[in-house]
Amino acid sequence: MQAATASTCRCSLRPPSARPSQAPRRSRMPVVRAAQEDKPAPDTLTGVTAAYSFKPFDEVAPVLANTAQAPSGGPADSFARCGTFHSQCEAALNEQINIEYCISYVYHAMSCYFDRDTVSLPGFAEYFRDNSLEERGHAQKLIDLQNTRGGRVKLNAIVPPETEYDHPEKGDALYAMELSLSLEKLNFDKLLALWAVLDQHGDPQLTQYVEDMLQEQVEDIKKVADYVSQLRRVGQGHGVWAFDHELAENEIGARTTPDA
Ligand SMILES: [Fe+2]
Ligand SMILES: [Fe+2]
Repeated sequence: MQAATASTCRCSLRPPSARPSQAPRRSRMPVVRAAQEDKPAPDTLTGVTAAYSFKPFDEVAPVLANTAQAPSGGPADSFARCGTFHSQCEAALNEQINIEYCISYVYHAMSCYFDRDTVSLPGFAEYFRDNSLEERGHAQKLIDLQNTRGGRVKLNAIVPPETEYDHPEKGDALYAMELSLSLEKLNFDKLLALWAVLDQHGDPQLTQYVEDMLQEQVEDIKKVADYVSQLRRVGQGHGVWAFDHELAENEIGARTTPDA
């Protein structure tokens, strides 16, 4: 019974182009018949006969034994965790979760500053509020990833951010945007460091995930760098007021759906 199963696997894994040429079959179930008729044969391209045959029940036995011996499956354990998920990867993910939370907190504080009645730049307030939520979303994505891989999420302390964002020469708008640019660039470096740890332990599922985040990060950096350049041009006072209006239009308008 098991021999028949192995034969089926070999056939289904080989691409059609690599199968030995055969006379046309008349059966209504060509796939099943092919599985029964196919015998180990040299590859038509390489001439090599595959010596290896995957025997799932044999090869899974040690993993199954480990799973069966696993403790109760309480919150401290994970059934999903594979042996290849290194504890340093788990720690590095937790570190990045904290970084995303910290940056989110800074953006939140900026949003509160620009929403003050004495500052009253609603476009900036909304922009930084959105940024705060975005960074919080990044933290959540990494939390989901950690749990998916059977790691333990460990939330660390968040440093309280500054409350004042005015600057004697630059003013508040340019200063806050330059600070935002610095944070985004710093976060890019942190993501690179995270990627290096994951790559060191040969975990392509994790590295690919972080590569997607890196792509988003460079796009964010470019956007904030553009804003910094524009704010340097407009100066303070009325220029900032006009920029705030445009920011509100772009940012708030961008996430307003046609039906809303
Ligand atoms: Fe982020
Ligand atoms: Fe960001």
